[in-house]
Amino acid sequence: MPQTAPVVRPALLRDLPALLALEASCFDDPWSADGVRAELEQGHCRPLVVERDGLVVGSLLAWLLAGELQINRVAVDPALRNQGLGGLLVAESLLRAQAEGGTRALLEVRADNAPAIALYQRHGFAKGGLRKNYYHDGAAAVVMVRDLQG
Ligand SMILES: CC(C)(COP(=O)(O)OP(=O)(O)OC[C@H]1O[C@@H](n2cnc3c(N)ncnc32)[C@H](O)[C@@H]1OP(=O)(O)O)[C@@H](O)C(=O)NCCC(=O)NCCS
Repeated sequence: MPQTAPVVRPALLRDLPALLALEASCFDDPWSADGVRAELEQGHCRPLVVERDGLVVGSLLAWLLAGELQINRVAVDPALRNQGLGGLLVAESLLRAQAEGGTRALLEVRADNAPAIALYQRHGFAKGGLRKNYYHDGAAAVVMVRDLQG
């Protein structure tokens, strides 16, 4: 069946079930319904979804605070990975933060999450420090940063 081009848009409250399904299928430590709902309701949150053929197939949860974009979660349906959908979400998040005057983007990612680190590097993030024992299972986090100006 032919596919329509993916569309990235801000996430809305009606996307909550789709966001929770992505949390469950993409993360070992899924956020709670209350936690994800807060990402849709609070003023500093900048959640995005990507739709394909009218279905939400990926999400990005981020905050824009004091000019700094903090990307907390990027998730793509496991069946649809390596098709550029995660990249579309990250690129759109960066563009929107720039348009709002953001100066810097940062995130933490598991040091063993090679696909995510590759994705962020492709979008201009550089590795910063290492945070040992950052995750519940003792895994380390790599801090990654990207200038949003210039
Ligand atoms: C990280 C994630 C969002 C990427 O989504 P995606 O739609 O597959 O992303 P893209 O297709 O845009 O890019 C994936 C990149 O990872 C690379 N990649 C895939 N598997 C890889 C691996 N095992 N090792 C290294 N790089 C890998 C791909 O080659 C691609 O990079 P390229 O375009 O430079 O070749 C997706 O894998 C995911 O949902 N993972 C689970 C949740 C997660 O870990 N999120 C990130 C931390 S919050």
